[in-house]
Amino acid sequence: MESSARREEAVLTPREIFDRLDHFVIGQEAAKRAVAIAAHNHLKRVQARRLRRSSLIKKSNILLIGPTGSGKTHIARNLAEILHVPFTTVDATEYTEAGYYGKDVEVMISDLLFKANHSVEDTQRGIIFVDEVDKIARRSQGARNGAGSRDIGGEGVQQALLKLLEGREVYVPLNVTQAWNKSDFVQVDTRDILFICAGTFSDLHEYGDEGGRALGFGAEDAAKRSQKRISTKQLVDFGMMAEFLGRLPVVVQLEKLGEPELIRVLTEPPDSIIREFRELLAMDDIELDFADGGLREVVRYSVDRGLGARGLRSILEFVMADVMFEAPEHRRRRVEVDADFVRQRLVGLDSAQIGL
Ligand SMILES: Nc1ncnc2c1ncn2[C@@H]1O[C@H](COP(=O)(O)OP(=O)(O)O)[C@@H](O)[C@H]1O
Ligand SMILES: [Mg+2]
Repeated sequence: MESSARREEAVLTPREIFDRLDHFVIGQEAAKRAVAIAAHNHLKRVQARRLRRSSLIKKSNILLIGPTGSGKTHIARNLAEILHVPFTTVDATEYTEAGYYGKDVEVMISDLLFKANHSVEDTQRGIIFVDEVDKIARRSQGARNGAGSRDIGGEGVQQALLKLLEGREVYVPLNVTQAWNKSDFVQVDTRDILFICAGTFSDLHEYGDEGGRALGFGAEDAAKRSQKRISTKQLVDFGMMAEFLGRLPVVVQLEKLGEPELIRVLTEPPDSIIREFRELLAMDDIELDFADGGLREVVRYSVDRGLGARGLRSILEFVMADVMFEAPEHRRRRVEVDADFVRQRLVGLDSAQIGL
């Protein structure tokens, strides 16, 4: 992480941020645009502060709503890299309101401080990704999801998070694994820390639950276009506090990735999984020929189980295991992976029951 607090560079435009995100994030055009604007405003805010100008620009904290494996974490992580700011992901369910068993929300700031190599200045411009915020919904309106029993967390954690989202100064311990005095605390101003909260809010939307397969490519696109916008009222009814939502002015809905997009996820980004396997095999002078039919089988397996892009790596690792094990011993220059090969391997995956 370069310490860049004094770098006087032009603020990246939304389009520049979008274009950079676009290299790594497949689909999700609306989300990339909204996030690019929010990030641009974030940079402007930070710059105004640096130049000691007073500024009206409000914090552009973001709420990402979308199904598992649609790229919520992926977008946030890539955004942090594009902006050259420290980044940490935390899970909302691990936190409790002060005084209860569990982590205090200040630990989020400690995590970020650690990622920023203990630079308070960099920490104050960083991004914190708070996952699973739908799991800290207020549960008072009864037995939603049968989860009515855990009422302690929910609202209290939202309350505790509020003060960070608002931008207060907090005292956090320096990392205790370091050789410093354990009682060392530092003051961190959270005013310019960008919070990206994420959740599936799964009972608020219908994504066409046949997994897209039965619908076929074209039909799935049509289904996606008709996806309804989730309103603030729905989120409040779901159990999110109005004050909490008020601190997340940018609400972005991600789409469920369809088969064509998942194939692109496998092959297109510079760090895509297929490219990675290709590089690994190339080190043994082996060329990997992954047929389109093979890719489609991998993708369908993931779609059928509602895993989105999240299942792809584990599935592919499983499919490729024997190839990777044996390839260096073979004198062959080419390995071909086609639909039949993938199908045969995936039969084994069902019974292997590895945790995807
Ligand atoms: N839209 C996307 N474009 C490219 N890769 C993606 C996309 N969505 C997910 N991925 C890949 O799948 C993995 C899991 O996605 P993730 O962002 O964790 O999903 P979510 O947080 O929405 O459940 C990511 O690490 C990334 O490699
Ligand atoms: Mg995630």
